[in-house]
Amino acid sequence: MGGRKLEGTIPVSGAKNAALPLMCAALLTEAPLQLTNMPTTLGDIVTLSAVLGELGVRTAIHKDEHTVILQAKDKTSCHAPYDLVRKMRASILVLGPLLARHGQAEVSLPGGCAIGTRPVDLHIDGLRAMGALIELESGYIKATAPHGLKGTTIVFPKVSVGATENLMMAACLADGCTVLSKAAQEPEIVDLGECLIKMGAKIEGLGTDEIRIQGVEKLKGTTHDVIPDRIETGTWMIAAALTGGKLQLKNAKLDHVTALVAPLEEAGLIIKQTGTDIIVSREGRPLTGTDIMTKPYPGFPTDLQAQFMTMLTLCMGAGMVTETIFENRFMHVPELCRMGANITVHNGSAIIRGVNSLKGAEVMATDLRASVALVLAALVAEGETTINRIYHLDRGYENIVDKLRACGADIERVK
Ligand code: UD1
Repeated sequence: MGGRKLEGTIPVSGAKNAALPLMCAALLTEAPLQLTNMPTTLGDIVTLSAVLGELGVRTAIHKDEHTVILQAKDKTSCHAPYDLVRKMRASILVLGPLLARHGQAEVSLPGGCAIGTRPVDLHIDGLRAMGALIELESGYIKATAPHGLKGTTIVFPKVSVGATENLMMAACLADGCTVLSKAAQEPEIVDLGECLIKMGAKIEGLGTDEIRIQGVEKLKGTTHDVIPDRIETGTWMIAAALTGGKLQLKNAKLDHVTALVAPLEEAGLIIKQTGTDIIVSREGRPLTGTDIMTKPYPGFPTDLQAQFMTMLTLCMGAGMVTETIFENRFMHVPELCRMGANITVHNGSAIIRGVNSLKGAEVMATDLRASVALVLAALVAEGETTINRIYHLDRGYENIVDKLRACGADIERVK
């Protein structure tokens, strides 16, 4: 039931998109890797531990301590099967580490969110440039590196988070120096790189668009604390703007969401960082329309586009949202329109003309970020909203119902 202002404190979980590549880094060493501040209850973490289990990685998930310990001591297999990989695209991140350590890998072509074609050509081309022999056969990437991987210079034709992570991990155990040019600069890449350095890797240039990795013979185990989830942080900041309430986000980093701060302030939100918390409130100001365009980091994150658009549905005037990372990432639009939003899409842009209110309806979650956008819409819609297919939400948002209820939302999980 919508209409309540959110007031209270929300603890931000560890970043899913940092946690997944970090788990894959365990494949690079026989020693244990201990990851803390992990979002242990997420569907994607469970799926990836099953994929890693197939590859002989022993994983202990300590849910309440938010800790995961992984050890890839004995290789039992280099085969990541379709029925697991299809559930989550990030499974492709086992490819680089497997090839680098064992000289072979067989990984199903991934599935994941239905937000465009999402190829993996950049991962494959990069590994080929490092000397891997790769064939695509029966839906599988079959890769070998009979003479090991060799360091080289790879200039990505387009910025890719996953390809940067895969190749950075592979390069840690390659022979010689690898330069990744036009590399992704996301905080999750920096987090992975910092963990790899603690494991003994030699990496420079993290957080810039050129990363240099000097291969080493062996990596060791370590303990690493996962960064807070900037997409969850941004989602709750938008929730405060939309509902007009006041939220204190615990363990959140404002410098990871800088691209969100300016448009949210323009829209009327007041944002402060105090210690490790972010405090956001609108204090009765009107919600004003503003424009955003998604870009690779440090630009506006595509993973916050649907949530931002939801906020604009109730703005004064209009706002424009342009999506440049993924095609087909406007699947939340028809659902928002069913709730009364006024949105016109033309190619990669959407004009959102503010309406006075949204109305509760039965809607369908289509992908991870689209589903949380519908939750945000439901928080302010008049009457009751039922969201179907919430398994998408469970992939990426920990305890969402409890977190929102604690701040006064009228929300329940029906099944
Ligand atoms: C990661 C995030 C995802 C986020 C996305 C963009 C994880 C687990 N997921 O996904 O939440 O939305 O970054 O910030 O971290 N591309 C190619 N060829 C490739 C690889 C990518 O053409 O080989 C294209 C994609 O289709 C897309 C763009 O490059 O259009 C960016 O994708 P990429 O950065 O690779 O996204 P992911 O790593 O899959």
